[in-house]
Amino acid sequence: MQRILVVHASRHGGTAGIAEKIGEVLRSAEVDAVVAKAADMPDPRDFDACLVGSGVYMGSWVKEGTEYLERYASTLATRPVWLFSSGPLPGSSKAAKAGNDPIEDALGPADGPGSGGRKKVEGLAAVIHPRAHRVFQGAYDPTDPPTSLAERVVRMLPASKGILPIGDFREWPAIEAWARQIAAEVAAPVPVG
Ligand SMILES: Cc1cc2nc3c(=O)[nH]c(=O)nc-3n(C[C@H](O)[C@H](O)[C@H](O)COP(=O)(O)O)c2cc1C
Repeated sequence: MQRILVVHASRHGGTAGIAEKIGEVLRSAEVDAVVAKAADMPDPRDFDACLVGSGVYMGSWVKEGTEYLERYASTLATRPVWLFSSGPLPGSSKAAKAGNDPIEDALGPADGPGSGGRKKVEGLAAVIHPRAHRVFQGAYDPTDPPTSLAERVVRMLPASKGILPIGDFREWPAIEAWARQIAAEVAAPVPVG
Protein backbone atom coordinates (compact mmCIF):
# COMPACT_ATOMS: atom_id res chain seq x y z
CA MET A 1 0.00 0.00 0.00
CA GLN A 2 1.32 3.46 -0.90
CA ARG A 3 1.89 5.91 1.94
CA ILE A 4 1.12 9.58 1.35
CA LEU A 5 1.77 12.44 3.75
CA VAL A 6 -0.60 15.41 3.58
CA VAL A 7 0.89 18.46 5.31
CA HIS A 8 -0.97 21.69 5.99
CA ALA A 9 -0.15 25.18 7.23
CA SER A 10 -3.40 26.75 8.35
CA ARG A 11 -4.22 29.74 10.52
CA HIS A 12 -7.98 29.39 10.73
CA GLY A 13 -8.62 25.77 9.81
CA GLY A 14 -9.65 26.27 6.18
CA THR A 15 -6.57 24.58 4.73
CA ALA A 16 -6.53 21.99 7.51
CA GLY A 17 -10.06 21.00 6.46
CA ILE A 18 -8.95 20.64 2.85
CA ALA A 19 -6.03 18.46 3.94
CA GLU A 20 -8.35 16.27 6.05
CA LYS A 21 -10.71 15.85 3.08
CA ILE A 22 -7.80 14.88 0.81
CA GLY A 23 -6.68 12.36 3.45
CA GLU A 24 -10.20 10.86 3.59
CA VAL A 25 -10.42 10.51 -0.19
CA LEU A 26 -6.95 8.96 -0.39
CA ARG A 27 -7.83 6.44 2.31
CA SER A 28 -11.03 5.52 0.49
CA ALA A 29 -8.79 4.81 -2.54
CA GLU A 30 -6.70 2.32 -0.55
CA VAL A 31 -3.85 4.74 0.15
CA ASP A 32 -2.34 4.90 3.63
CA ALA A 33 -2.68 8.67 4.12
CA VAL A 34 -1.43 10.62 7.12
CA VAL A 35 -2.50 14.23 7.63
CA ALA A 36 -0.23 16.44 9.73
CA LYS A 37 0.49 20.05 10.60
CA ALA A 38 3.50 21.65 8.93
CA ALA A 39 4.46 23.05 12.33
CA ASP A 40 5.01 19.47 13.56
CA MET A 41 7.57 18.98 10.75
CA PRO A 42 6.62 15.37 9.89
CA ASP A 43 9.47 13.66 8.03
CA PRO A 44 8.54 12.91 4.41
CA ARG A 45 11.25 10.20 4.22
CA ASP A 46 8.76 7.72 5.65
CA PHE A 47 6.32 8.28 2.76
CA ASP A 48 6.12 7.48 -0.95
CA ALA A 49 4.63 10.87 -1.84
CA CYS A 50 3.73 14.13 -0.16
CA LEU A 51 1.18 16.93 -0.51
CA VAL A 52 1.90 20.28 1.11
CA GLY A 53 -0.74 22.99 1.34
CA SER A 54 -1.01 26.39 2.93
CA GLY A 55 -3.45 29.18 3.47
CA VAL A 56 -2.46 32.44 1.77
CA TYR A 57 -2.27 35.77 3.57
CA MET A 58 -1.30 39.00 1.83
CA GLY A 59 0.16 37.03 -1.05
CA SER A 60 2.29 34.69 1.08
CA TRP A 61 2.03 31.15 2.36
CA VAL A 62 1.69 30.73 6.10
CA LYS A 63 5.24 30.72 7.52
CA GLU A 64 5.13 27.09 8.70
CA GLY A 65 4.32 26.01 5.15
CA THR A 66 7.40 27.56 3.57
CA GLU A 67 9.51 26.48 6.54
CA TYR A 68 8.38 22.91 5.92
CA LEU A 69 9.34 23.10 2.24
CA GLU A 70 12.70 24.64 3.16
CA ARG A 71 13.52 22.07 5.78
CA TYR A 72 12.70 19.05 3.64
CA ALA A 73 13.40 20.37 0.13
CA SER A 74 16.10 17.81 -0.64
CA THR A 75 13.92 14.85 0.46
CA LEU A 76 10.83 16.22 -1.25
CA ALA A 77 12.82 16.60 -4.48
CA THR A 78 13.19 12.80 -4.58
CA ARG A 79 9.47 12.03 -4.28
CA PRO A 80 6.24 12.90 -6.08
CA VAL A 81 5.03 16.12 -4.48
CA TRP A 82 1.91 18.19 -4.99
CA LEU A 83 1.43 21.69 -3.59
CA PHE A 84 -1.85 23.43 -2.91
CA SER A 85 -2.72 26.95 -1.87
CA SER A 86 -5.99 27.72 -0.20
CA GLY A 87 -6.74 31.34 -0.72
CA PRO A 88 -8.84 33.37 -2.98
CA LEU A 89 -12.20 34.45 -1.73
CA PRO A 90 -14.49 35.01 -4.72
CA GLY A 91 -14.83 38.66 -5.62
CA SER A 92 -11.77 39.72 -3.63
CA SER A 93 -9.72 42.49 -5.23
CA LYS A 94 -6.78 40.17 -5.95
CA ALA A 95 -8.97 37.71 -7.83
CA ALA A 96 -10.67 40.49 -9.77
CA LYS A 97 -7.35 42.02 -10.86
CA ALA A 98 -5.60 38.82 -11.83
CA GLY A 99 -8.26 37.29 -14.04
CA ASN A 100 -7.79 33.68 -15.01
CA ASP A 101 -4.47 32.71 -13.46
CA PRO A 102 -5.23 30.94 -10.17
CA ILE A 103 -1.66 31.29 -8.87
CA GLU A 104 -1.78 35.03 -9.51
CA ASP A 105 -5.23 35.22 -7.92
CA ALA A 106 -3.81 33.77 -4.73
CA LEU A 107 -0.16 34.76 -4.54
CA GLY A 108 -0.04 37.86 -6.72
CA PRO A 109 2.25 38.77 -9.62
CA ALA A 110 5.40 36.84 -10.62
CA ASP A 111 7.51 40.01 -10.50
CA GLY A 112 7.52 43.52 -9.13
CA PRO A 113 5.68 44.92 -6.12
CA GLY A 114 3.78 42.27 -4.16
CA SER A 115 5.64 39.33 -5.70
CA GLY A 116 7.74 38.38 -2.63
CA GLY A 117 5.43 35.68 -1.25
CA ARG A 118 4.98 34.05 -4.63
CA LYS A 119 8.72 34.16 -5.35
CA LYS A 120 9.39 32.38 -2.06
CA VAL A 121 7.06 29.47 -2.92
CA GLU A 122 8.21 29.32 -6.52
CA GLY A 123 11.87 29.36 -5.49
CA LEU A 124 11.28 26.31 -3.31
CA ALA A 125 9.21 24.66 -6.03
CA ALA A 126 12.15 25.10 -8.40
CA VAL A 127 14.14 22.79 -6.11
CA ILE A 128 11.36 20.34 -5.26
CA HIS A 129 9.74 20.07 -8.72
CA PRO A 130 6.18 19.42 -7.59
CA ARG A 131 3.94 17.69 -10.11
CA ALA A 132 1.38 20.46 -9.71
CA HIS A 133 0.47 23.47 -7.63
CA ARG A 134 -3.31 23.73 -7.28
CA VAL A 135 -5.21 26.68 -5.92
CA PHE A 136 -8.52 26.18 -4.14
CA GLN A 137 -10.79 28.90 -2.88
CA GLY A 138 -10.69 29.49 0.87
CA ALA A 139 -12.94 30.47 3.72
CA TYR A 140 -13.19 33.58 5.88
CA ASP A 141 -15.02 33.91 9.16
CA PRO A 142 -14.52 37.40 10.68
CA THR A 143 -15.71 36.13 14.08
CA ASP A 144 -12.61 33.92 14.30
CA PRO A 145 -9.97 36.17 15.95
CA PRO A 146 -6.90 37.16 13.88
CA THR A 147 -3.77 35.13 14.60
CA SER A 148 -1.20 37.84 13.86
CA LEU A 149 -0.83 41.57 14.17
CA ALA A 150 -0.63 41.98 10.37
CA GLU A 151 -3.89 40.08 9.95
CA ARG A 152 -5.54 42.18 12.63
CA VAL A 153 -4.44 45.37 10.87
CA VAL A 154 -5.62 44.23 7.42
CA ARG A 155 -8.98 43.18 8.82
CA MET A 156 -9.40 46.59 10.44
CA LEU A 157 -8.79 48.54 7.23
CA PRO A 158 -12.06 49.92 5.93
CA ALA A 159 -11.10 48.62 2.45
CA SER A 160 -10.97 45.05 3.76
CA LYS A 161 -14.76 45.02 3.95
CA GLY A 162 -14.79 44.85 0.17
CA ILE A 163 -11.75 42.62 -0.35
CA LEU A 164 -12.53 39.93 2.21
CA PRO A 165 -15.81 38.28 1.29
CA ILE A 166 -17.26 36.34 4.20
CA GLY A 167 -18.10 32.65 3.83
CA ASP A 168 -16.81 29.15 3.19
CA PHE A 169 -15.94 28.88 -0.49
CA ARG A 170 -13.92 25.68 -0.35
CA GLU A 171 -14.44 23.69 -3.53
CA TRP A 172 -15.17 20.22 -2.20
CA PRO A 173 -15.96 18.47 -5.52
CA ALA A 174 -12.75 19.82 -7.12
CA ILE A 175 -10.71 18.92 -4.03
CA GLU A 176 -12.10 15.38 -3.99
CA ALA A 177 -11.51 14.93 -7.72
CA TRP A 178 -7.90 16.10 -7.33
CA ALA A 179 -7.29 13.70 -4.46
CA ARG A 180 -8.73 10.81 -6.49
CA GLN A 181 -6.46 11.74 -9.40
CA ILE A 182 -3.42 11.73 -7.11
CA ALA A 183 -4.41 8.33 -5.69
CA ALA A 184 -4.58 6.99 -9.24
CA GLU A 185 -1.20 8.51 -10.17
CA VAL A 186 0.48 7.08 -7.10
CA ALA A 187 -1.05 3.65 -7.69
CA ALA A 188 0.24 3.56 -11.27
CA PRO A 189 3.60 5.39 -11.25
CA VAL A 190 4.74 6.85 -14.54
CA PRO A 191 7.78 4.83 -15.73
CA VAL A 192 10.98 6.89 -15.69
CA GLY A 193 13.18 7.18 -18.78
C1 LIG B 1 -6.23 39.23 6.33
C2 LIG B 1 -6.41 38.23 5.22
C3 LIG B 1 -5.60 38.31 4.10
C4 LIG B 1 -5.76 37.38 3.04
N1 LIG B 1 -4.94 37.49 1.93
C5 LIG B 1 -5.12 36.59 0.92
C6 LIG B 1 -4.29 36.66 -0.25
O1 LIG B 1 -3.38 37.48 -0.37
N2 LIG B 1 -4.52 35.77 -1.25
C7 LIG B 1 -5.49 34.82 -1.15
O2 LIG B 1 -5.66 34.04 -2.07
N3 LIG B 1 -6.28 34.72 -0.05
C8 LIG B 1 -6.12 35.57 0.97
N4 LIG B 1 -6.91 35.49 2.09
C9 LIG B 1 -7.88 34.40 2.18
C10 LIG B 1 -7.34 33.22 2.96
O3 LIG B 1 -6.25 32.64 2.31
C11 LIG B 1 -8.44 32.19 3.15
O4 LIG B 1 -9.27 32.72 4.11
C12 LIG B 1 -7.92 30.81 3.52
O5 LIG B 1 -9.01 29.92 3.54
C13 LIG B 1 -7.23 30.81 4.86
O6 LIG B 1 -6.76 29.51 5.17
P1 LIG B 1 -6.58 28.99 6.65
O7 LIG B 1 -7.97 29.03 7.31
O8 LIG B 1 -6.11 27.61 6.47
O9 LIG B 1 -5.60 29.87 7.34
C14 LIG B 1 -6.75 36.37 3.13
C15 LIG B 1 -7.55 36.29 4.29
C16 LIG B 1 -7.39 37.20 5.32
C17 LIG B 1 -8.29 37.09 6.54
